[in-house]
Amino acid sequence: MGVERVQAWRWDGQALWLLDQRQLPARECWQRCETPEAVAEAIREMVVRGAPLIGLAAAWGVALAVRAWPGRPERVREAAGRLVQARPTAVNLRWAVQRVLARLEREGFDFARAEQEAQAIAREDEAACWRIGQAGLAVVPDGARVLTHCNTGALATAGIGTALGVLRAARQAGRRVTVYCTETRPYLQGARLTAWELAREGFDPILITDSMAGALMAQGKVDLVVVGADRIARNGDVANKVGTYTLAVLARAHGIPFYVAAPFSSVDLATPDGRAIPIEQRSAAEVVQVAGVPIAPEGVRAWHPAFDVTPAELVDALITDRGLLRPPLADALAEAARLGPCDGAAAAASPEQRRSPTP
Ligand code: MRU
Repeated sequence: MGVERVQAWRWDGQALWLLDQRQLPARECWQRCETPEAVAEAIREMVVRGAPLIGLAAAWGVALAVRAWPGRPERVREAAGRLVQARPTAVNLRWAVQRVLARLEREGFDFARAEQEAQAIAREDEAACWRIGQAGLAVVPDGARVLTHCNTGALATAGIGTALGVLRAARQAGRRVTVYCTETRPYLQGARLTAWELAREGFDPILITDSMAGALMAQGKVDLVVVGADRIARNGDVANKVGTYTLAVLARAHGIPFYVAAPFSSVDLATPDGRAIPIEQRSAAEVVQVAGVPIAPEGVRAWHPAFDVTPAELVDALITDRGLLRPPLADALAEAARLGPCDGAAAAASPEQRRSPTP
């Protein structure tokens, strides 16, 4: 407690600074990105990661493109296209780039305007995380033992995080929470990032290898699972860090509620279901090595999808900045989309409650 929340990005008016997450927890090094190409490379190489934060980084990338090519909108559009392609699964990336571009197309390609829009995305994501946290209070009782996966915190967003935001909000509301985090092979976001982020704030997290989740649940040590999302399809299917689907199946088999926390910028109503979500394939080297050290025989082949899809029927609720959305998720998402963003006061209310406020 009392430790300032980590922020993994900074804008200095000329360049984007990114905390190099590949080096955590051993070192806190910052990388300065002065061009859209440098930002795209940082996203591809996972210097910066997490769906909302790569969206924000790409928004700054568009601003850098406007500065690099004044009066050349076609060059900016090309750079924006390259930013969107840096990683394919998280829809926030496309959403943020299109949002900045749309404003520039409407009002003119101007650096200050692009900067303003990126700042607005940052502010809104911070607010969205807070609202997610408030909405999540409904599902995290005092004394809860929570299992989470990957990293969904301040290192992945512009705020307190999504799934980790729910845990932070619960703690702030005076509830005791025990957090189990999976190491999240192969990139180890859980071990390197979540354990680090939570430990700094006195959460005292308990790390497990991914393969221990079933045993943990079977021993009755998990009350709920909460994870993030990289893309939520129209029917409520969720793409998130590989291993999420396994946890959802295990949770259902043990009668444990499974929640997905995400801002609405992760919702892609244009994608009908999980089968249509592009899944990023990453290098086999990330599977056969740990921190550059081989852990498999030389030449062995490896399969490395960075994400998997959890079918909507395994999700007990989506915890969003537009409230807690319960199944049927397709209907709840459509309704939340129709109602639009909610204000802070309505944050914890379901769309149902927001339509007919208590007198
Ligand atoms: O490959 P990563 O580290 O970018 O994957 C991150 C995740 O899968 C997160 O769970 C997701 O982006 C939600 S972050 C708030």
